[in-house]
Amino acid sequence: MTDIEELLLSRIRDVADYPEPGVMFKDITPLLADPAAFTALTDTLAGIAERTGATKVVGLEARGFILGAPVAVRAGLGFIPVRKAGKLPGATLSQAYDLEYGSAEIEVHAEDLSAEDRVLVVDDVLATGGTAEASIQLIRRAGAAVAGLAVLMELGFLGGRDRLAPALDGAPLEAM
Ligand code: PRP
Repeated sequence: MTDIEELLLSRIRDVADYPEPGVMFKDITPLLADPAAFTALTDTLAGIAERTGATKVVGLEARGFILGAPVAVRAGLGFIPVRKAGKLPGATLSQAYDLEYGSAEIEVHAEDLSAEDRVLVVDDVLATGGTAEASIQLIRRAGAAVAGLAVLMELGFLGGRDRLAPALDGAPLEAM
């Protein structure tokens, strides 16, 4: 593990039994409050954006907005929010996906992505991969290419990486 990865992971707080019993919540607020750690994360993710030839950064609501927006600014790219259904005012593309109990839906403004774009998706946590998979489907339906997926943390025991392999279709999945 690099010094930067060690710094970043040391600033993530484990909160037991939140938001419900049996769940270990990964709280990134200590990292956000530490300027050295937040800057190091932003620089690392911006480096991934540059290496993968991304032309846009997509952030996944809500923590993907906090991490993705400064990456877009640092890399000199546009930032596109992928939001939970019903939050975007313009014409949207929507993608439903299954949760453990029930389903969810995310949306993007259709005009924000085009066939010229290569998109880096940024989020805090990869868990089951359902949210990231739906975001990749949205990007492809908009006609854009996927440059990669970059997350701060990967919860490997939930199998998100394997689930995402077909959707990523060779694009890199980077975790700190
Ligand atoms: C969390 C997390 C990821 C997603 C990962 O977001 O920030 O976006 O879940 O889970 P998955 O890999 O199983 O799809 P959440 O839905 O809690 O939204 P929030 O950031 O708005 O709290």
